[in-house]
Amino acid sequence: MRYSELIFSPTGGTQKVADIIAEGWGADWETADLTDASADFSRIVFQKEDLVLIAVPSYGGRVPEPAIQRLEQIHGNGARCILVCVYGNRAYEDTLIELNDTAEKCGFQVLAAVAAIAEHSILHQYAAGRPNRQDEESLRSAVEKIREKWNSASETPVQLPGNRPYKKAGGGGLVPKAGKNCVNCGLCAAQCPVQAISRANVQNTDAKKCISCMRCEVNCPHTARSVNKAMLSAAALALKKSCSVPKECEWFL
Ligand SMILES: Cc1cc2nc3c(=O)[nH]c(=O)nc-3n(C[C@H](O)[C@H](O)[C@H](O)COP(=O)(O)O)c2cc1C
Ligand code: SF4
Ligand code: SF4
Repeated sequence: MRYSELIFSPTGGTQKVADIIAEGWGADWETADLTDASADFSRIVFQKEDLVLIAVPSYGGRVPEPAIQRLEQIHGNGARCILVCVYGNRAYEDTLIELNDTAEKCGFQVLAAVAAIAEHSILHQYAAGRPNRQDEESLRSAVEKIREKWNSASETPVQLPGNRPYKKAGGGGLVPKAGKNCVNCGLCAAQCPVQAISRANVQNTDAKKCISCMRCEVNCPHTARSVNKAMLSAAALALKKSCSVPKECEWFL
C-alpha cells in the first residue's frame, strides 16, 4: 500500500498543514506537486488499499481551478483520501464540498476532511504565524480521529459544509509585476503554477492566466515583484472584519 500526498501550495501554507497531518500519521508519504504546470498527472494511478492526502488552499471559497484540472487527471481506483482545505482565516465556503466532488469524480473514496488556517498569502497580516502550536495540537487530534475511522474500515459518508451549485469563483485580480530590482533570473517564470509569466521577458505577465497565487512575489530572491499597493490596501480594508476573528481547525468524519 502507498501513502501519497497531492498538494497544491503556491506559497507553502497548505504544505505546512499537510506536513503536520502526514507527520502525525507517521508513515512514509510520497508527494505529487499539483503546482507543477508541466507534469503529466494522468500517470498517477492508485489502488484501493492506498491512502491519499489531497490538500489545496481556498481561493474565494473555492478550489483553485488549476488544482481541479490536475486532480481530474488522476486515477483514484477506490483509494481512500483525506481532503484538506487551508484558508487565510476569512472563510472556506464551498472549497471542501467542491474538493469532495472532484475526488469522487476521480474514483477516490472520501475518508475524512479537514479545514485548517494558514497565513493569508495575499494579506499577510491576517492569520500571521499560523498554523501555530494550537493548530498543530488540533490537527494531531484530527489525525487520531481519522485513524480510528480508517482502522474500523468504516464507510460512513462524510457530511461537509458548503453549497451546490458552488459560489461563483472570483479572480483575485491582483497581478504581481516585476519592478526595478529585477535581475531577470527567470525563477518566477519557472515556478509560476500556470505559466503566466513570459520566460523571454519576465516583465510580461498574462493577467488572464494569473491566479493571483503570490508565489512569484513571495519567492523572488530580490523582492522585485509586487502588486498594486492601493488595490492591496482596499482588499485589506474590505476583509478586515471577516479575517480578524481567529477561526479554529475543523474536521469531518
Ligand atoms: C487568490 C486567493 C484567494 C484567497 N481567498 C481566500 C478566501 O476566500 N478565504 C480565506 O480565508 N483565505 C483566502 N486566501 C488565503 C489562502 O487560502 C491561504 O493563505 C492559504 O494558506 C494559501 O495557501 P498556500 O500558502 O499554500 O499558497 C486566498 C488567497 C489567494 C492567493
Ligand atoms: S524572480 Fe524576481 S529577480 Fe528573478 S526574474 Fe522574477 S522578478 Fe526578476
Ligand atoms: S504570475 Fe500570478 S499565477 Fe503566476 S506565480 Fe505570480 S501570482 Fe501566481
